[in-house]
Amino acid sequence: MTMPPEQLQHEIARRRTFAIISHPDAGKTTITEKLLLYGGAIQEAGSVTARAGTSHTKSDWMSMEQQRGISISSSALTFEYEGRHVNLLDTPGHQDFSEDTYRTLTAADSALMVLDAARGVQAQTEKLFAVCRNRGIPILTFVNKMDRPAQDPFELLEQVEQTLAIRAVPMTWPIGDGPSFAGVYDLARREVVLYERVARGRTRPPVSVASVEDARVAELVGAELHAKLQEDVALIEGALDPFDPEAFLRGEVTPVYFGSAITNFGVEHFLRDFVRMAPAPGPLETTAGEVTPEAPFTGFIFKLQANMSKNHRDRTAFLRVASGRFERGMEVVHTRTGRKLRLSRAHTLFAQDRESVDEAFPGDIVGLVNPGVFRIGDVVSLVPKVELRAFPRFTPETFASVTMKDVTKRKAFHKGLEQLAEEGVVQVFYPTDGARDPMLGAVGPLQFEVFQHRLREEYGVEIDLHVTSYTLVRWLAGDAGSVARFARHVEDDQGRPVMLFRTRYDLDYTAERHKEIEFLPLPQDLTVVRK
Ligand code: G4P
Repeated sequence: MTMPPEQLQHEIARRRTFAIISHPDAGKTTITEKLLLYGGAIQEAGSVTARAGTSHTKSDWMSMEQQRGISISSSALTFEYEGRHVNLLDTPGHQDFSEDTYRTLTAADSALMVLDAARGVQAQTEKLFAVCRNRGIPILTFVNKMDRPAQDPFELLEQVEQTLAIRAVPMTWPIGDGPSFAGVYDLARREVVLYERVARGRTRPPVSVASVEDARVAELVGAELHAKLQEDVALIEGALDPFDPEAFLRGEVTPVYFGSAITNFGVEHFLRDFVRMAPAPGPLETTAGEVTPEAPFTGFIFKLQANMSKNHRDRTAFLRVASGRFERGMEVVHTRTGRKLRLSRAHTLFAQDRESVDEAFPGDIVGLVNPGVFRIGDVVSLVPKVELRAFPRFTPETFASVTMKDVTKRKAFHKGLEQLAEEGVVQVFYPTDGARDPMLGAVGPLQFEVFQHRLREEYGVEIDLHVTSYTLVRWLAGDAGSVARFARHVEDDQGRPVMLFRTRYDLDYTAERHKEIEFLPLPQDLTVVRK
């Protein structure tokens, strides 16, 4: 059934799909929880962090997530706010486990960067920021934990500008910090928003003032903080360009907000601006040109996940709707294979709970039950010949050999290996003589731990895992004869010849002596986005 174009247009225009990028511990979970609270998606704060309480739907890999205090899975959370339909993609924040996060970011139209006010820009923030930058998506910034002693806000802005090469424009300005934190001043609206140190957090309505000089400000925050605020605002107005929404949409400027998520301060301020300023879904770059959101249905798979929960022991493919209207049961083309598929088992995901979804629009994330046909980066469409132009792929940098502890589990072992490799938990390489055990490749060593843990919990297979001294893999290209003569008996899971190296020197030495062969950081048939 088609939908009137203006109705589709309306649904597209009100979609906001974003992800939070941050270094672990900056406060991503806390902010997520508060955002959902405003969106009415959860009843009380704590239900996102207190996932252990919903043990009936908790999967085992969630238990590992809790043990380690990190978020390993990505899920999409949805809520309505001021007539906008907000999709928040949850992205893992651990520095070692980033392939998954990078892929999730391909499904976001904007990002919120959360910084810890005392720590500023940290290693993981930088890496994730680079991915958003690559994609050119707009980025907003929330400086969290102002209730604790913080770095000087001007220094924080400068750090953002220096390390991330983006202009930072404050939208609110902190009044004091730590024990003296009194609230924020909204620069454009000329409002003082007072911070109250109360247990559950409460924000009083903002107080409008004529200007920052207004004596009312001193009444509200005290003479000393007022004097400092006037000084700061004079500096800001003298030295910084005003916020330019167009430059923000081009990814050149990040608007900065200050707050304290744990006490629920400043988050709604951000959200209110976010739904207005952040972009609705835009066109998708494909091999067939740009697909606009108004075009007939197209979607792409950005993430696969097996065994999301014990209640549903199956594989889920996460699809981002890129254009048109998705309807449950619709028949589409799986463009990589040309096969027709009926998308009948579709659901949304809220933490670990699922609900059937009947329709979805550009920007929305739909979980599809994956009978093994999908790979990451696949496209399903009403139009047969559409494929993604660029999808991030990663060259592993650490390698481990695996052996089964119990050889009778061979079948389960190979099933786990295949499914977890398909999800991108690790990459798998096989010795071609078949005699030795497979080798795993990953970007960070935590991926091996996740693999080992999931293999045990989900497939009942115990393995020994030894991290090797290899640090580089290269796919071999050249005429078939030379490659065949040269290849040293290792191939990837698609049968492509590869070679592993211990050092850069080894690689360069070999490449120098074998000019007939190309040593590629990614297989030739995949788009190189990032080396
Ligand atoms: P993450 O998802 O980015 O890893 O961070 P998360 O929200 O889990 O927050 C990390 C820690 O920082 C938590 O403390 C959290 O309570 C605290 N936190 C978050 N926002 C603020 C804030 O605005 N001010 C202050 N002072 N603390 C904040 P924790 O001790 O690790 O956990 P918990 O025992 O509080 O749950």
